[in-house]
Amino acid sequence: MASTHPSVQPVAADRMPALLRAMPKAELHMHIEGSLEPELMFALAKRNHVPLRFPSEQALRDAYVFNNLQEFLDIYHEGTMVLKTEQDFYDMTCAYLARAQADNVLHTEIFFDTQTHTGHGLSAEVVINGLYRACADAPAKFGMTASLILCFLRHLSEEEAFECLEQALPLRDKIVGIGLASSEVGHPPEKFAKVYARAKQLGFRLVAHAGEEAPPAYIWSALDVLKVERIDHGVQAIHDAALMQRLAKDRIPLTVCPLSNLKLRVFPTLAQHNIGAMLDAGIMATVNSDDPAYFGGYINENFTQTFAALGLTAQHAYTLARNSFDASFIDASLRAKYLERLDAAFETFR
Ligand code: HPA
Ligand code: ZN
Repeated sequence: MASTHPSVQPVAADRMPALLRAMPKAELHMHIEGSLEPELMFALAKRNHVPLRFPSEQALRDAYVFNNLQEFLDIYHEGTMVLKTEQDFYDMTCAYLARAQADNVLHTEIFFDTQTHTGHGLSAEVVINGLYRACADAPAKFGMTASLILCFLRHLSEEEAFECLEQALPLRDKIVGIGLASSEVGHPPEKFAKVYARAKQLGFRLVAHAGEEAPPAYIWSALDVLKVERIDHGVQAIHDAALMQRLAKDRIPLTVCPLSNLKLRVFPTLAQHNIGAMLDAGIMATVNSDDPAYFGGYINENFTQTFAALGLTAQHAYTLARNSFDASFIDASLRAKYLERLDAAFETFR
């Protein structure tokens, strides 16, 4: 069931945003390429002499209207064309870490897709070294910890995922886990059974996007075929009672991204989002920003808008924050330190 703590007292609705902002948290579902704000995109386009088809940052922002995941992925992919050098990947990651720090994120596990960039002629080393250098600097520069999860692109073949894994192996120590992203429907988890088995052998932690737009069957196969430890999104699980029971019983974390779901029309309004129902059903949900530059907000914006729309409580807030640390891939001693800071923050809201 949901984590309770004696220090969690009822908090008045008007003080909830302050509590949500001040609350220490971990972010476990954020694609670094989706944190590229129009301002930085234009600056990198200039630095690297890459033409953009939008006349201004505002014109680009105005184009961020999507009917589904694929419409978003097309424009997201276009934005990644400005990334050329190791320094670009470093700068983009530092910009995100600064925003995360401002939202009291103590730890983040950052998704990236090497194949997007190797598809543009970059080497895996340029990508991974730039991202990793920012993660390594995170404790000193931003007072937080950060690690990397390499996502295979599921619209490409399993053979291409194997190639991607091979290219990353010389940089093995810079990557904590493997994930699965991009166009979901028509590309079920089992398409990647062999490469996930190999990644598991190599000691990577495993996650996968499943049940964002596709049915519960994709979540079952992510669990039972790919053997993942967390499900990214997973909101379609609500349509399968047996799956809900499995997720609750095995405490499988769901990394839910409410503003992403709203922008990609997975739910028509935030008031119709199921994260409250998930928590009340004992599912280990977390709140995350997915692609914050495109979906209208970083993690605290996801928390405050979702809580306002659904009328969630301080107990829900504590459970979500606690889940984020419990679901993370940090070691036990660091987790204990972060949980102490979480409890201390709730003490001040008694
Ligand atoms: N879903 C799938 N792939 C993605 C996403 C997402 O929300 N963001 C970036 N790649
Ligand atoms: Zn995602």
